[in-house]
Amino acid sequence: MSKIAIVYHSGYGHTKKLAEAVQAGAAGAAGTSAELIAITAEGTITDAEWAALDAADAIIFGSPTYMGTVSWQFKKFADASSKPWFSQKWKDKIGAGFTNSATMNGDKLSTLHYLFTFGMQHSMIWVGTGLMPSNSKAAQRNDINYVGSFSGLMAQSPSDSSPEEGPLPGDLETAKLFGKRVAETAAQFKK
Ligand SMILES: Cc1cc2nc3c(=O)[nH]c(=O)nc-3n(C[C@H](O)[C@H](O)[C@H](O)COP(=O)(O)O)c2cc1C
Repeated sequence: MSKIAIVYHSGYGHTKKLAEAVQAGAAGAAGTSAELIAITAEGTITDAEWAALDAADAIIFGSPTYMGTVSWQFKKFADASSKPWFSQKWKDKIGAGFTNSATMNGDKLSTLHYLFTFGMQHSMIWVGTGLMPSNSKAAQRNDINYVGSFSGLMAQSPSDSSPEEGPLPGDLETAKLFGKRVAETAAQFKK
């Protein structure tokens, strides 16, 4: 059984919805369990949740893009992870990242670059979307990977959308495929 942990922050519920879609995709892969770990509004997780991260085969990091990077709550979690970093507890685990923001671009790549660097500091093995972008003339907004990201999952929630309305349906479907890919990669690497 491969264990996938999805640790994320969401200020207003949109990134939570995306995290749930990533979890659904990961849990749908054969022989996989997928756990959601929500970083609180104070930027914390419990000791049991830290232990779950240490025990996971893959950790998927998620944050909304706020002012061009991760939220401060996610960064507080990242800084607190210097404890497992010291003993390289997450070394050779599969790592991956996702972000959601209001604007189609909105500097989301900056957030994914941060998450990648974070994963590399922990000596993880990074997995991207592995999904071709939908970028032809015929492409529609709800096609798979319409936002067009390889380095990690990007989703867009219009600025006036509720979490029930955004992220948009195609981005949620893309999130499921991304979660499935990370889970299948974790199964391949499982010792
Ligand atoms: C403080 C703050 C900063 C934001 N900065 C950006 C940004 O840089 N780019 C962008 O596209 N959207 C930005 N947004 C919009 C959020 O990314 C968007 O509303 C997102 O869906 C919020 O996710 P959440 O509900 O999980 O917190 C910002 C929102 C807030 C509250």
